[in-house]
Amino acid sequence: MFKLSVTLLSLALFAAAAPSPRAACGQGRVTAHAACCIWFDVLDDIQENLFDGAECGEEVHESLRLTFHDAIGFSPKLTRQGKFGGGGADGSVIAHSEIETAFHANNGIDEIVDAQRPFAIKHGVSFGDFIQFAGAVGVSNCAGAPRLEFLAGRSNISRPSPDLLVPEPFDSVDKIIARMGDAGFSPNEIVDLLASHSIAAQDNVDPTIPGTPFDSTPSSFDSNFFVETLLVGNLVPGNGINEGEVQSPIAGEFRLQSDALLARDGRTACEWQSFITDHARMQSKFRAVMAKMAVLGQVRSRLTDCSDIIPVPMNPLAKSASLPAGKTMQDIQAACKATPFPTLTADPGPATTIPAVPAS
Ligand code: HEM
Ligand SMILES: *[C@@H]1O[C@H](CO)[C@@H](O)[C@H](O)[C@H]1NC(C)=O
Repeated sequence: MFKLSVTLLSLALFAAAAPSPRAACGQGRVTAHAACCIWFDVLDDIQENLFDGAECGEEVHESLRLTFHDAIGFSPKLTRQGKFGGGGADGSVIAHSEIETAFHANNGIDEIVDAQRPFAIKHGVSFGDFIQFAGAVGVSNCAGAPRLEFLAGRSNISRPSPDLLVPEPFDSVDKIIARMGDAGFSPNEIVDLLASHSIAAQDNVDPTIPGTPFDSTPSSFDSNFFVETLLVGNLVPGNGINEGEVQSPIAGEFRLQSDALLARDGRTACEWQSFITDHARMQSKFRAVMAKMAVLGQVRSRLTDCSDIIPVPMNPLAKSASLPAGKTMQDIQAACKATPFPTLTADPGPATTIPAVPAS
């Protein structure tokens, strides 16, 4: 018994003292596993040629959306009914794009699918890995973002996802909670995932105003999205109210019906509000839920941790939470019963408006 404990102790000491394994990848770059070296090449290539020089722009936003639309094709409920439930984060949205891009909820996803495919093929990495990698790298380009986990090793072989697994902006909260719950996410985790809409815009709900963002700062992973979605909506951008759209509070801003409802529903409102004055929490919750989403349908322990390839996000946020200029606390529709809404002051200057992005 004593001998065993001594052995265990020395093992533990050895493990603590041993340097973590490093693999040299050339150009002075090191990573934890030799198998990860390939991702440095992919990183250089996509930062330059997909993300226009490490921007937090349209391709980053679309790449982040794609991580979700690939992964959420995963339904234990369908599996229990004896049907194919989808392979989760398996790259099927690229491998079987002729089927999946035709799904209504995947409207517009074809652009980023076509943009990403040649990079994955060129570097010989699986579509499933590439989608999650591009999302994690892309997020690292956005001010205030957390450094996301990236695990490599997903099979390149997939079957097309069944239709109707991707939530629609016109779905009820009940329906969204049920669908996301089927895939393994709690109501709070839906909110955590929706931190993504802080770096997001719409192109297709109202196709007359492509690039209209969901908050006033779509290149910053900040809490403005969680504040602005709670403001009274009284404006209609574009061509009128489309299916899945509701009135927005700021000229040049777009509000999804689903975001408006989740911000105000008793099951999700407190998590929503919690991010407004706690940016560290918004980062850590997003990191955790993205790590969970990225391995839907995968066996986590069979993947290799290549997280150290993901750049450390460099740009801190310019400022803490505030109200857009021209708004007051009276415009806030607080919905969390458990916690009072934080007192925010408005930015100085004339009422915030968001300039239209030039069509690309
Ligand atoms: C309740 C679930 C969700 C619904 C109903 C929803 C709906 C939408 C809709 C309708 C758009 C606009 C698409 C377009 O017109 O081009 C959009 C954009 C976006 N979504 Fe979601 N979404 C949900 C969850 C998520 C999640 C979980 C993520 C990622 C983790 C995500 C990331 C994005 C991003 C980054 C964009 C912006 C794309 C761009 O700017 O091109 N969404 N979402
Ligand atoms: C993945 O599959 C596609 C066909 O869907 C193929 O073009 C590509 O080369 C494959 N990639 C790898 C790494 O096997």
